[in-house]
Amino acid sequence: MTAGYFDEDVAGRYDEASAEMFAPEAVDPAVEFLAGLAGDGEALELGVGTGRIAVPLSARGVGVHGIDMSEPMVARMRAKPGGERIGVTIGDFATVQVGRTFRLAYLVFNTIGNLTTQDAQVACFQNVAAQLETGGCFVIEVGVPSLRRLPMGETVRAFKVSAERLGFDEFNTVTQSLVSHHYWPKDGRRFSIPLRYVWPSELDLMARIAGMRLKERWAGWRREPFTHDSTKHVSVWEKL
Ligand SMILES: C[S@@+](CC[C@H](N)C(=O)[O-])C[C@H]1O[C@@H](n2cnc3c(N)ncnc32)[C@H](O)[C@@H]1O
Repeated sequence: MTAGYFDEDVAGRYDEASAEMFAPEAVDPAVEFLAGLAGDGEALELGVGTGRIAVPLSARGVGVHGIDMSEPMVARMRAKPGGERIGVTIGDFATVQVGRTFRLAYLVFNTIGNLTTQDAQVACFQNVAAQLETGGCFVIEVGVPSLRRLPMGETVRAFKVSAERLGFDEFNTVTQSLVSHHYWPKDGRRFSIPLRYVWPSELDLMARIAGMRLKERWAGWRREPFTHDSTKHVSVWEKL
């Protein structure tokens, strides 16, 4: 299987490039939230990557299994203390199955968008439902599409502008997709990745198709209320 966009080069820089997401303020509330839902059951992380969440969640005593298509990302997790405790299945998280059921499945850091078609996102919900215990939960953390913050008629929105890094999203509202561009001006590096943006209501419909229903929706891991102005959501669906 190919590593996709998260190849050796990207994997080698991932933790540093996403340093803000590795800070305790970002990780701890997510781990707390997920540990509460896992209880004494096991958790499945889709797109486990370098173990940003899986490793601390497992250190909290929750058994975690990960799925990822990138061997280089998983190799970084395995090299971390505690990383060896995370079982991994290499494959596409929209279709690959681990062979047992879980109390909790989760997909964080906008990674649902890495599935760039509606069919693949629906398949992901169905694949998760097939691997959840009845009453088990599926959690997604993803941004609310930032279209409403685009200036009228524009298709590009900057999300990061600093001397070290420039980031902007280029939207296509016909295909409900975007390309997220990242530039590091000092060494001329660049990384662009296609994503499918998806609305909370569409995710709820995907959950319904897969036999799940919305249980909770928050604006963040600390259970901040989800409002008109929320820029992201943490949603929990329960398998019926
Ligand atoms: C943005 S990273 C997130 C990693 C980790 N969950 C975190 O929060 O840091 C996305 C990860 O999902 C993996 N990924 C993307 N699409 C995938 C797919 N269809 N099947 C399996 N893994 C996938 C990538 O290889 C990468 O490791």
